[in-house]
Amino acid sequence: MMKSTGLFFLLIVLAYAPSTAQEKAAATAALIPAPVEVKFGQGFFTLGKHTVIRADTGLAEEAALLNGFIRQQTGLTLAVSSKKPSISSIDLDIDPLRVKEPEGYQLLISSDAIRITGHDGAGILYGIQTWRQLWQHSPVGALSVKACIINDYPRFAYRGMHLDVSRHFFSVAFIKKYIDLLSLYKLNTFHWHLTDDQGWRIEIKKYPRLQSVAAWRDETLIGHKKEWPHRFDGKRYGGYYTQEQVKEVVRYATARHITVIPEIEMPGHALAALSAYPQLGCTGGPYKAATCWGIFDDVFCAGKDSVFTFLQDVLDEVMELFPSTYLHVGGDECPKQRWAACPHCRKRMQEEHLANEHELQSYFIKRISRYIDSKGRHLIGWDEILEGGLAPGATVMSWGGIEGAISAARQHHHVIMTPEDELYFDHYQSLYPAEPLAAGGYTSLKDVYNYQPLPDTADRQLLPYITGIQGQLWSEYLPTPEQAEYMLMPRAMALAERAWSPETRKSYPDFLSRLRSQKKMLDNIPVNSAGNFDEINYTVLAVNKGSIRITLRSDMPGGKIYYSTDGSRPGLKSRLYKGPVNINQAVLLRAALYNGGKPVGRIFEQSFHIHKAIGASVALQNAPTSKYGGPASKLVNGIYGVHRYNDQQWMGFSGNDLEAVIDLEKVQPIKVVGANILQYHWQRMWAPVWLQFAVSVDGIHYKTIARQDEYPVNGINKVRIKLQGITARYIKVTGINKGIIPLGEYGAGANSLLMIDELIVN
Ligand code: ACM
Ligand code: ZN
Repeated sequence: MMKSTGLFFLLIVLAYAPSTAQEKAAATAALIPAPVEVKFGQGFFTLGKHTVIRADTGLAEEAALLNGFIRQQTGLTLAVSSKKPSISSIDLDIDPLRVKEPEGYQLLISSDAIRITGHDGAGILYGIQTWRQLWQHSPVGALSVKACIINDYPRFAYRGMHLDVSRHFFSVAFIKKYIDLLSLYKLNTFHWHLTDDQGWRIEIKKYPRLQSVAAWRDETLIGHKKEWPHRFDGKRYGGYYTQEQVKEVVRYATARHITVIPEIEMPGHALAALSAYPQLGCTGGPYKAATCWGIFDDVFCAGKDSVFTFLQDVLDEVMELFPSTYLHVGGDECPKQRWAACPHCRKRMQEEHLANEHELQSYFIKRISRYIDSKGRHLIGWDEILEGGLAPGATVMSWGGIEGAISAARQHHHVIMTPEDELYFDHYQSLYPAEPLAAGGYTSLKDVYNYQPLPDTADRQLLPYITGIQGQLWSEYLPTPEQAEYMLMPRAMALAERAWSPETRKSYPDFLSRLRSQKKMLDNIPVNSAGNFDEINYTVLAVNKGSIRITLRSDMPGGKIYYSTDGSRPGLKSRLYKGPVNINQAVLLRAALYNGGKPVGRIFEQSFHIHKAIGASVALQNAPTSKYGGPASKLVNGIYGVHRYNDQQWMGFSGNDLEAVIDLEKVQPIKVVGANILQYHWQRMWAPVWLQFAVSVDGIHYKTIARQDEYPVNGINKVRIKLQGITARYIKVTGINKGIIPLGEYGAGANSLLMIDELIVN
């Protein structure tokens, strides 16, 4: 297999003197993910039309891919041979003795040859992708790369990227482009989320109604699901991949050493399937594929054996199409109301001695897991497959937080880290209001880059159970391929670096500089990569009585920030930002980023509100939720939470009431009390039954001065109550939680969230 010329190799290595700092910068400048080790040498390899690709016949696919990349860059198609030619050559060799790590490679570039030695075929391909990134700066039509030696291998064996094609459907051409991007950045798993409430997207020959009925929905929600009343576009929407297309995608991915893991959702997120085969639900239907986003009560019945027959038949066809060891069966977000009321489910629970519906969920997943195992494959499911006990051998995809992952790892199950807060790319990547509509949240490029698969505080012995990390791209708010690309890139590049590169190579500024240098390559593909990672951010340094001290920053090297506080459009004539800014009156701060005298990107805007309570101490009687928690002081920091509630300003109370006491430190006249209350029933956010303000001069005896129980706005309700003749030192704000969400409402039966930000006193 290998044509090792030991002496040749030794001589080349000796020619690679340690590189200068400048060369090091140039070296890493091109590469994402950062390789384990790079050394630059003297001279350049320049590809000519007589260059030959020499590869074993076992590497024909890799050689063909390489030839395709070279053709794109230069227009040349090189000869491929299995014999060593005398002239300039590109050698592809597998040598697991020289490259010990699976998927690892060594890329050796000298002035007359290139040699890629891989541990395996994947290693060869990654060596090719590295070289391809290095040649991106060659002039159009040419291919010239500086001599170097790169030794490289992955940190995690599982490096994944997910795509939801149910909420929005993407063409096979787009799926291939997606796979190409994964391959370029050395991700090795494509998690294809093929079924959900809003559409079934894979042809199953035994069940033709999955194609004729379940692949379609009547219409699609316009805007965000939190908006009320819901509006729909009135257009039938759908589509599915034929089995031939699925095979084509799998072949395409396999050639790029990417495993495709299909996800067939069960027992929840099943409305589309139920619309085609209503007898598989507890009530028998009728059902319709969902036209809105969310979690729906109708799920596969866990009591009827016909459901398992159906799912096993489906999985049989799926296993024929996908050679992957792992099959994903979802398992997440399965409401249990229908099961609780269903005679079939109750009978099952009785017969199987299941104590509750969580154990029924566990029964469901275990039964499917046994079936998958019997075919020599294994099951993956989201965190919720932990409910009621894990199926033996199941791998957990942990999206909820670290607890599920730790629990699974302690039980010696493999875990793939897919945390919502850091690796959901349907989240906003910028807090600018002009950012296109997204699901919610805020996961910046930096947040992705700083993601730590296992916190330092966790037991290190669990680390071997963490097989890898994966980014999620849910498509509720991705109606077009352009928007999908915008949300994917460059966050998938940060993910790829965290999945591949050693921890010691971690440096966000260095990553950003390499990202900047890849812009041309991304533009050439072309891919609609988001460019807003340099945008201005602010940090609150301190909130004092009557003033707020903030800093502004951008990650753009050489970037200058000009700002105004009088509402005017900031420009070169505005104030140049040099350091922390004190704000002591209500302002709209606007700031613009300049580089080389030219404006870059969008204008930053943030309002600050100065009132009597800012910087005051606030005591909370009850704890807020962890998701909408934080110090009580954020309730009086002069910054109002926004309607996307992703700015860390809102405080949320679930299962308890708000009771906050503000201490103004001295008795004084109070003319206005107020608060902002966020209400979105479709996000389970409910205004309080009533919000009450009481005042006191001594902190012991309180007098109720106002009560508000009307919240007409689906969104931010501004409560402002004018007072007369009131003097006080303490103000107690009480909000009575709505409690359990009533029947007929979204999320019925769950706790409602009382969301409040900024307690205002004037
Ligand atoms: C999920 O986000 N429900 C896995
Ligand atoms: Zn049932």
